[in-house]
Amino acid sequence: MAWRDSSPIIVPSLNQMPNAVIIGTGSYAPEHIVPNTYFDRVGSNDAWIQERLGIKERRIAQGETTSELAVQAAQRALDMAEMDASELDLIVLATATPDRPAPASACMVQEKLGASNAAGFDIAAVCSGALFALTTACQYIESGFYRNVMVIGADTFSNIIDWDRRDSVFFGDGAGALLLTATEEDRGFIGFDLNTDGSGRDGFTVPAGGSERPASEETLAQGLHCFQMDGPAVYNTAIKAVPESIGKLLSKTGVSIDDVACMLPHQPSIKILEEVARRVNLPWEKVRTNMDRYANTSGGTIPIVLDETWRSEEFQPGDHLLFAAVGAGWTWGTALYKY
Ligand SMILES: CC(C)(COP(=O)(O)OP(=O)(O)OC[C@H]1O[C@@H](n2cnc3c(N)ncnc32)[C@H](O)[C@@H]1OP(=O)(O)O)[C@@H](O)C(=O)NCCC(=O)NCCS
Repeated sequence: MAWRDSSPIIVPSLNQMPNAVIIGTGSYAPEHIVPNTYFDRVGSNDAWIQERLGIKERRIAQGETTSELAVQAAQRALDMAEMDASELDLIVLATATPDRPAPASACMVQEKLGASNAAGFDIAAVCSGALFALTTACQYIESGFYRNVMVIGADTFSNIIDWDRRDSVFFGDGAGALLLTATEEDRGFIGFDLNTDGSGRDGFTVPAGGSERPASEETLAQGLHCFQMDGPAVYNTAIKAVPESIGKLLSKTGVSIDDVACMLPHQPSIKILEEVARRVNLPWEKVRTNMDRYANTSGGTIPIVLDETWRSEEFQPGDHLLFAAVGAGWTWGTALYKY
């Protein structure tokens, strides 16, 4: 490993902080497709899943680890930017399903990607993870400490699903990445709103495997290493918290909802997103979704939907892209990007 000076790369003047802009995006989902009809065996059905959740199918990893998914997505983002992995200063990986409890999966990504000059760490904010990760990355860039930061959201929830239960319909596996760099131009991420309320910790949880309930024969027998979810609590929290955060962020940045070109939200369910859009007066045509093909990939959702949007749509300078997430914790928040 080469010695590297860790002093700040950019020294911002008092009135000119760099902005963080997206120069590459990438995504990756495993090949294996599981259609809704698979869940007939647990008492669910295609019509219910499509109508309530907007999901038609999901991708499930077969032996691939979270970091392997993450590396594929990150490499695609590097390719788009025509950047070599050795130019990365930092890797921030959002995941709730790391390869191992220790070390952080960002270490595996750093090594597999060949990011020989990058530091890396994981962020644990479950379905809000990518939003928390990109906000963190932006702080490093805006402070001048780092220039090139890879943000990845990657999850393999298939490892924490009880496949004999009906709530196994909700999730899929996948990863997305966005490559950020510093610019002096008036564009990039212009505002964030992050929130946490730990009183909601049981709304979505994996009860065992941590210090509260270490792994034991009993926790295994009781299936406590799989997620447990209070669906109505998730729904009621999401439809209240996300619109509030959007309102706060728009008023903080002085941007009107009419100026939002599109929203790139976490993908919990179509019903949640329809209600959020209705509450903030955002026309449904401006909401980007892909849960029909991937279901909820937790940390992966926002960067995957960003990658698809970035590659398929034309934006004009000054267009605003709104990112929004809600997840276990509770955690929730928003970010605004000026193209
Ligand atoms: C899960 C959710 C769709 C349930 O909706 P709801 O109407 O509040 O839930 P209920 O428990 O009253 O169930 C409604 C009906 O759906 C049925 N149902 C629940 N889960 C089902 C499933 N997986 N498959 C088929 N039917 C199901 C129930 O049996 C009930 O049927 P009934 O009306 O014949 O009794 C809703 O709460 C939701 O979208 N929550 C958010 C969950 C989420 O997004 N999680 C991922 C992010 S962490």
